[in-house]
Amino acid sequence: MQAIKHFLQFQDLTREEFEYIFERAKIIKARFKGYQTYHPLMDRTLAMIFEKQSTRTRLSFEAGMHQLGGSAIYLNTRDTQLGRGEPVEDAAQVISRMVDIVMIRTFEQDIIERFAAYSRVPVINGLTNEYHPCQIMADIFTFIERHGCIMGKTVAWIGDSNNMCNTWLQAAVVLDFNVHVSTPQGYEVEPERAGLYDTSHYESFADPMEACRGADLVTTDVWTSMGFEAENEERVRDFQDWQVDADMMRVAASDALFMHCLPAHRGEEVAAEVIDGPQSVVWDEAENRLHTQKALMEYLLLGKVNE
Ligand code: CP
Ligand code: NVA
Repeated sequence: MQAIKHFLQFQDLTREEFEYIFERAKIIKARFKGYQTYHPLMDRTLAMIFEKQSTRTRLSFEAGMHQLGGSAIYLNTRDTQLGRGEPVEDAAQVISRMVDIVMIRTFEQDIIERFAAYSRVPVINGLTNEYHPCQIMADIFTFIERHGCIMGKTVAWIGDSNNMCNTWLQAAVVLDFNVHVSTPQGYEVEPERAGLYDTSHYESFADPMEACRGADLVTTDVWTSMGFEAENEERVRDFQDWQVDADMMRVAASDALFMHCLPAHRGEEVAAEVIDGPQSVVWDEAENRLHTQKALMEYLLLGKVNE
């Protein structure tokens, strides 16, 4: 029997697999924009387990599965036995006998890894404390749509070394580009937590302006991620000099893009004039969650197709 393919962190797929998924996403997007019916996942069911809140992830997975001819079931901790302490391993065995594919948004990466180890079907990471691989897949597809290729390019990550940052660092190794990271002191990247087996694709900068200099893409995220709310006051104080503003965009490449996975806080991690300005592609990024995840689900369930 062929091993089940999961997408638990970015480095679970190879460069060749991402190239295939991006090609499929382009085709699937064009079909969707042309109102063409495409139902390769007829009668397949996706279970979506949310232990944290979501707008984009729920919407893009649920709508995406319907558009591919299948259906999606939303589960959360409050209304399921998961919230009453049912072991993850037991839940995985039961849920994966009833559906064809599972998406999970949860806290520690270990939870999703344990679920996957007991699952009979592919499991997708819809965000953990450590990683957000579906978002970075959509972001890179968005970059490719604008600039053709990300290989050899430079991404400036400004702010917290969170799940988004860790995933950019993994993606840089898989797809061969560079990441300049600037975080306040005390919030630096921990290569081991980022799951990095190769640290040659990133460089740290004390000064965020220096991290942005010449970058092809400037990106940031909230200063306080879900699950870390107790640290919010302290973080707002510590991150004051890490707001992406027009000066940072000015020292980046003249055709640099700005990305943010959303939701955003104008006046905190990003100035309104940047996120609402001409270099910002945040709405394309959000939309591309839909198209890239449809391509991902098609690949995990059907392998390579030629339609
Ligand atoms: N970017 C993202 O994952 O958004 P949601 O939290 O709304 O799903
Ligand atoms: N880093 C953020 C991303 C939200 C989509 C969080 O984990 O809350």
